[in-house]
Amino acid sequence: MRVLMVICMILFLCLLSSPVHAVQQGNAVFFDPPYGPSACYGNRNDGNMVAGVSDRLWNNGRACGRRYRVRCIRGANEAPHPCKNGKTVVVKVVDYCKSGCQGIINLSRDAFSTIADPDAGIVRVELDQV
Ligand SMILES: *[C@@H]1O[C@H](CO)[C@@H](O)[C@H](O)[C@H]1NC(C)=O
Repeated sequence: MRVLMVICMILFLCLLSSPVHAVQQGNAVFFDPPYGPSACYGNRNDGNMVAGVSDRLWNNGRACGRRYRVRCIRGANEAPHPCKNGKTVVVKVVDYCKSGCQGIINLSRDAFSTIADPDAGIVRVELDQV
């Protein structure tokens, strides 16, 4: 009985400390093709659904290869109706958006235009790692 209780407690503690990927918010900007070379992979082609992340996520390059689901939640400027409602896009981190980056994430134009109107230039997004 005691052993069982200890096992239960350990399981419970493991559940509590398991890395729950918190949803983060920030602005997203975009860049035009060609989408390379990248800080993570040089000249390797990683497709069109790629992004650079700024210091908050970059983590000294450990962000390379992470995938984020990105959702446009509202405009970040005066552009009317910038979000394509309900759309999300999953991007792979391949690049660093250096200091001075105007967003938490710098999406490829293909990724940005899936969730938002490129004419807006910048939008507020929610990110969660997948
Ligand atoms: C987005 O990334 C591209 C390619 O790395 C870069 O040229 C551009 O300056 C970045 N945009 C911003 C706002 O930092």
